[in-house]
Amino acid sequence: MPQLWQGRASKAVDSRVNDFNSSIRFDARMIEQDIRGSMVHSAMLGRQGIISQQDVEDIHKGLEGILADLHSGALEIDPAAEDVHTFVEQTLTARIGDAGKRLHTGRSRNDQVALDIRLWMRDESEALQAGIRELIEALCRQAEAAAGYVMPGYTHLQRAQPVTFGHQLMAYAWMLLRDLGRLKDAAARMDAECPLGSGALAGTTYPIDRQYTARELGFDAPCANSIDGVSDRDFCIEFVSAVATCMMHLSRLSEEIILWCSWEFKFVELDDAFTTGSSIMPQKKNPDVTELIRGKTGRVYGDLNTLLVMMKGIPLAYDKDMQEDKEAVFDAADTLALCLRTLTPMLDTMRPLPENMRRAAAKGFINATDCADYLTKKGMPFRDAYKCTGTMVAACIAADKTLEELTLEEFQSYSPLFEQDVYHAIDLTTCCEGRTSYGGPAKASVLDQIAKVRAKLAEE
Ligand code: ARG
Repeated sequence: MPQLWQGRASKAVDSRVNDFNSSIRFDARMIEQDIRGSMVHSAMLGRQGIISQQDVEDIHKGLEGILADLHSGALEIDPAAEDVHTFVEQTLTARIGDAGKRLHTGRSRNDQVALDIRLWMRDESEALQAGIRELIEALCRQAEAAAGYVMPGYTHLQRAQPVTFGHQLMAYAWMLLRDLGRLKDAAARMDAECPLGSGALAGTTYPIDRQYTARELGFDAPCANSIDGVSDRDFCIEFVSAVATCMMHLSRLSEEIILWCSWEFKFVELDDAFTTGSSIMPQKKNPDVTELIRGKTGRVYGDLNTLLVMMKGIPLAYDKDMQEDKEAVFDAADTLALCLRTLTPMLDTMRPLPENMRRAAAKGFINATDCADYLTKKGMPFRDAYKCTGTMVAACIAADKTLEELTLEEFQSYSPLFEQDVYHAIDLTTCCEGRTSYGGPAKASVLDQIAKVRAKLAEE
């Protein structure tokens, strides 16, 4: 396929430059969006009397034919084309003749590509949002079953205070809900302004109707500055940033699952269908899926960095550097989609082991805060209660005992405020169920959170 811009040069472009310059191998996936944009652009040209109604009809039929043939497999993308825009226009012209050559009137590939990538991201963002919603729903299902499973909560990966497994899982549901919000915000800002009609950078002398094209393509309005319209990729950065943030959350959840299914924790058992074995160690059951998610998170951070660095030094308006935006955007979106598709069923089939969680919770003095709170409620200032309990913990560690194994006399040797009810106060279930403060780990709070998250999902 020859270039669209043949005319000025005295000789053919070196084949190595052609290969280097070509973006068809990755931008071909925007072909539906490219055709959608051309449909609206040509309809506008017809409405404004810039091209004839006959041309519009021919162009529409031609574009519909291209789309149908692509779907049926009758038409293949030419890997030698410079880019998807060239491919569509030249295929159209080969099919319908001169009307095809009129399609690009009043338009540049600069505003065309700025539109196409937006339309592609709009569709993709919706698919990703659906994937995130499914993961949130899977978390809610697991959390519902595990609302009352007591486990140690950690800080510094040291056992800290009792929580429930449901509470721990719901923490991720809330994070993912914000990820949904971030994707939506980015899409709304992106959809506010349509770049089509910016031309190469300086608009056009044709009497185009940008209000019409913006509206027809699902934007709130045309962008108000043609240079801005073709020059920025901030919407790509926002989208990939939201994707990278979501990957960060998936990676942390993955890291926890890796820990939980180790022999050291054994808080969960993964379904065999979602684990892998070792070629040499017959006993192995490896959480490869979660490790890959953790690894792929770095790759998406790389995509974000690619965009940020690519954009930071290029002068207005369009520069070819910006062709590099697509691979980063596609890779980030593909990676998140792939991770969501695998993590959700893995989470759904994961089996919690509440006895092991409880056993771990019974060790590590995670009721020490509750013991100090007990003394505080009986009148001792909290800082003194903290100190007194610390002394007790040190003595228990030396004697290889837990706090609840101390006799009442032993308790009272530390403070006369201790009475028989201390055993109830530092019991694990009491400690967990007593944490009824709003947003706490008690079963009732977990169930309340699940209802709230589900209501938020239903709202949208
Ligand atoms: N393939 C190009 C890109 O992705 C399309 C725009 C080309 N514009 C140009 N003036 N060379 O950015």
